[in-house]
Formats: sequence, structure tokens, C-alpha cells
Amino acid sequence: MTQDELKALVGQAAVAHVVPGSIVGVGTGSTVNCFIDALAPLKDQIAGAVSSSVKSTERLLALGIKVLDANEVSSIPVYIDGADEIDHGGHMIKGGGAALTREKIVADLAERFICIADASKLVDTLGAFPLPVEVIPMAATQVIRRFGQAYGGQAQVRAGVTTDNGNVIVDVRGLQITDPLAMEAEVSQWPGVVTVGIFARHKAKVCLLGTPEGVRTLTF
Ligand code: A5P
Repeated sequence: MTQDELKALVGQAAVAHVVPGSIVGVGTGSTVNCFIDALAPLKDQIAGAVSSSVKSTERLLALGIKVLDANEVSSIPVYIDGADEIDHGGHMIKGGGAALTREKIVADLAERFICIADASKLVDTLGAFPLPVEVIPMAATQVIRRFGQAYGGQAQVRAGVTTDNGNVIVDVRGLQITDPLAMEAEVSQWPGVVTVGIFARHKAKVCLLGTPEGVRTLTF
């Protein structure tokens, strides 16, 4: 099975976790696109979606799925999103698509984060994928310096990318994130950091992992 087929498999499988009549949290990325496509036939059975990016909003609307402002909702039973890496504890690196801030906001509104990913995303230790950090532009150089001093990571601004919130993404290479909760808490406090792409406080409760043998369900 190709990686695209595995993404389609878990995108389809995620539909079974949508609570009928409720609002669904929708993430961002190519795996989530498969989920959005699979959700479309059920659009009349849900109250709408809260989206984590302009791209996902456009896809949802194009398929006739109602999109609600996050400020209009107080709670979402299920948030479905992909990941760049997920470890065996459900901690994730996210933000490869630069949507991490809105993703963390929707994850915070949700009762359950359901991660959908192909098997290549499952790792023992987070950090081989460069850690994305959304940063206020004037703080980028200081945040880059600080990563080097605090963690020995090599960081650089992602070229040509401005987030949906008007900020830049700093990608940090060379990390071994053995304590995701601690690093998330620490980096989140640095001035100019909007969101760090470690999802430990908002980790997945379930991961639907696409494997050549079918969908493996991991619970955390
Ligand atoms: C978006 O900012 C990311 O957090 C995505 O969830 C992540 O990059 C996964 O994307 P794919 O499903 O395209 O691999």
C-alpha cells in the first residue's frame, strides 16, 4: 500500500469516531483532507465543523460542510487531526503545514484528540522531524539563538511561509525530545513564541495508524 492509500484508509476510519449531531474539530494536512472528503456524505448528520486553517476551511466549504467560528462553540467532542510524528505515549510534533497555533486552539476546545497518521509517523522519540515553532517575526533571531543555547538545536526560519496569523515558522533540527511535556512548557514561555509544535498537554487520546495490515488503533 502506498502512503497515500494509508492516509485514505485512516481518513475514512476516522468518520466512525464522529459523534452524530455534534460539532467536529477538523485539523490540517493531506491526511485530514482524506478525512474531510470522507466526512462530506455525512454533512447533514453533524452540526458543523470548527477548522484549524484557511486551507481546511476552504475544503470543508467546497464540500458543503458548515464551518463555525471557534468563538461560537464551548466544547467539541472530537478533534481529528494528523501529525508529523507521534510517540508511544500519544505526544506529537505538529506544524509541518504551519497550522499549529489554530490546531492547538481547536485541540484545547476538544474532549478527545484523535490522531490519524500513516505508520511512518510513529516514532520512539520525537525530534527527527524538525520541530515547528510559530514566532512573532521580530523575535525569530532571539528564539533561534535560544534553541541553540538551551537544547543544542539548529533552528532556521522556514523560507517563504507566513502563517494564517501573520507570523513566521522557525524549524528546529537536531532535537531529541525525551520529555515533551517539559519542553513544551518551557519553550511556550519564551517571549515571541506563539505556539510550539509539541502537543504533549494536548496529546492524542487515540491514534488511528494506517499500516499495510490495516488500521491499528492505539490508545493513550
Ligand atoms: C499541520 O500544521 C500539521 O500539524 C499536520 O497535522 C501534519 O503536518 C500532518 O500532515 P500530513 O497529514 O500532510 O502528513
